[in-house]
Amino acid sequence: MARIIAGVGTSHVPAIGAALDLGKTAEPYWKRVFDGYEFVKKWIAEEKPDVVILVFNDHATAFSLELIPTFAIGTAAEFKPADEGWGPRPVPVVKGHPELAWHIAQSAILDEFDMTIVNKMDVDHGLTVPMSLIFGQPDAWPCPVIPLAVNVVQYPPPTGNRCYNLGKAIRKAVESFDQDLKVMIFGTGGMSHQLQGPRAGLINSEFDNAFLDGLVQDPAALTKIPHLDYMREAGSEGIELVMWLIMRGALDDDVEQLHRFYTVPASNTAVGHIVLKNVAA
Ligand code: DHB
Ligand code: FE
Repeated sequence: MARIIAGVGTSHVPAIGAALDLGKTAEPYWKRVFDGYEFVKKWIAEEKPDVVILVFNDHATAFSLELIPTFAIGTAAEFKPADEGWGPRPVPVVKGHPELAWHIAQSAILDEFDMTIVNKMDVDHGLTVPMSLIFGQPDAWPCPVIPLAVNVVQYPPPTGNRCYNLGKAIRKAVESFDQDLKVMIFGTGGMSHQLQGPRAGLINSEFDNAFLDGLVQDPAALTKIPHLDYMREAGSEGIELVMWLIMRGALDDDVEQLHRFYTVPASNTAVGHIVLKNVAA
């Protein structure tokens, strides 16, 4: 059977992608950020997951205000990089895992999580920046990826509690897939940031670090944070953090923190990163 053995959380700041693609990783401003990802690149090269479920948000690239799925699972065989702003990144096409993706869709929907099934979807920095931070810059990505897009752009986004429970449903789905697959799940976006309005540039390190602590020690407490508290404490785009709760919900209660990193700022955003492994894995 398939098993989720570990989860990774990371920010997805688009300027990180531009810094990578324009060869700026050695500049002191960016080196400070990239150094925080040396651990995960080595670790994942050793662990060699068979499939990654990547929870991310689309930034009006694949979807627009015309169509706003709350949870959308990518069932396609491949997903092309695309973006607003700097344009599509020069990164490999993302290969999907249609068989497992359809299985997760079926299992989650029968468990009353009404996923949108997406057979064609371009993927923006929300997905490609985490891929680069975690896997580096290979000619082809080392494993298939199932993209799971979450609406955190247009109000109302899902609650943290709904996200956590979706994580549990995903875990159940994976464990009922009858191929021996080592699966990892990435929760991406965040941490505190606000891109517009009078509070643009807001960063709240205290909130971010408490969120990272909570992910390890007491994720159930994080599921009670209301939308308004994310807005107030972590800025309007801090709501992206609910996606990390899908990752956490898909793991066991008992996890070991293998690595944690936090730095401010990168572009307008606090960069956070955590690697969690099931103690029983
Ligand atoms: C920035 C951060 C984001 O998460 C995003 O989607 C766009 C821009 C930023 O910090 O500039
Ligand atoms: Fe974003």
